[in-house]
Amino acid sequence: MSIDVERRPELENFPENPFKGEHIISVDQFTPEKIDYLFGVTRKMREIVETIGSTDSLKGKILANLFYEPSTRTSSSFTAAMERLGGSVIPINEVRYSSVAKGENLPDTVRTLACYADIIVLRHPEVDSAKLAAEYSPVPVVNAGDGPGEHPTQALLDLFTIVDKFGRVEGKHIVMVGDLKYGRTVHSLAKLLSIQDRVKITFVSPKDLKMPPEILFRLREKRIDFQEVEELESTISSADVIYLTRVQKERFENQEEYEKVKNKYVVTPETLTLAKKEMILMHPLPRIYELSMAVDKDPRAVYIREQMRNGMYVRMALLAAVLGKV
Ligand code: NCD
Repeated sequence: MSIDVERRPELENFPENPFKGEHIISVDQFTPEKIDYLFGVTRKMREIVETIGSTDSLKGKILANLFYEPSTRTSSSFTAAMERLGGSVIPINEVRYSSVAKGENLPDTVRTLACYADIIVLRHPEVDSAKLAAEYSPVPVVNAGDGPGEHPTQALLDLFTIVDKFGRVEGKHIVMVGDLKYGRTVHSLAKLLSIQDRVKITFVSPKDLKMPPEILFRLREKRIDFQEVEELESTISSADVIYLTRVQKERFENQEEYEKVKNKYVVTPETLTLAKKEMILMHPLPRIYELSMAVDKDPRAVYIREQMRNGMYVRMALLAAVLGKV
């Protein structure tokens, strides 16, 4: 089945699929036009899944899912995405059972997988690991999280969730809460929002876990209206989106420091009594202390029903686009 993407007038600059053959390393690669294109394909993918479940557009294609760090959603949604498109997956979730455990370096592992697979999805604990992998890989590499660096496909699904809910992101107030220093999802999302018009961002974090200066610099350069605060309460009532994150325990050198901040923000049903009726509460998950399970029933909580499922649709769109099948 071929996938017809509805072309909007602003896509005219891209008569061809702009992702074909590209490595996906950072949100810096995206433009509003490319995102529009991808979200058009994403909607199509959702329709396919909801109507017929799967298609065979990537039949015969193989994805290597190379994960050096734990993952539930990212890894399984890439697998589901590939399989719903008719392709198959080499899962390497436990690098300790691969030659990595014998000391093999990343370029060699990636060049090996590129002999067997058409695309490599990589999660690795070091910043810039995906960039390094892409330098060696003859097949496209998709960054599924490079330590505290970036998580571009998560940012795409997050933005898709916001746009899908409100129809647009312009004029919206996005509040990002938690570990903004080590959280790669918020790094990518903040950068992705910097190319949108008229968004307002509030960063809520303990003072030791603030958004990195280079990202704030970027936002200033793009004239994004943002502020940094330590308290969540004062921002809740004006938020259109609250994007909550866990404190990234594994990135702390000193566990005492982690203990001091792990409970700083906890969202409960009571917190949401202060929030707008039509706002949404997002979380990339996993949650640890910061989000009470009692919130899940609130219709504004989209992290399980929408956000997570959108991850599969966006990744289906991206895989099909990168492999040139849209
Ligand atoms: C995030 C990650 O791995 O960065 N999870 C995800 O991909 N959905 C968030 C996190 O681990 O806190």
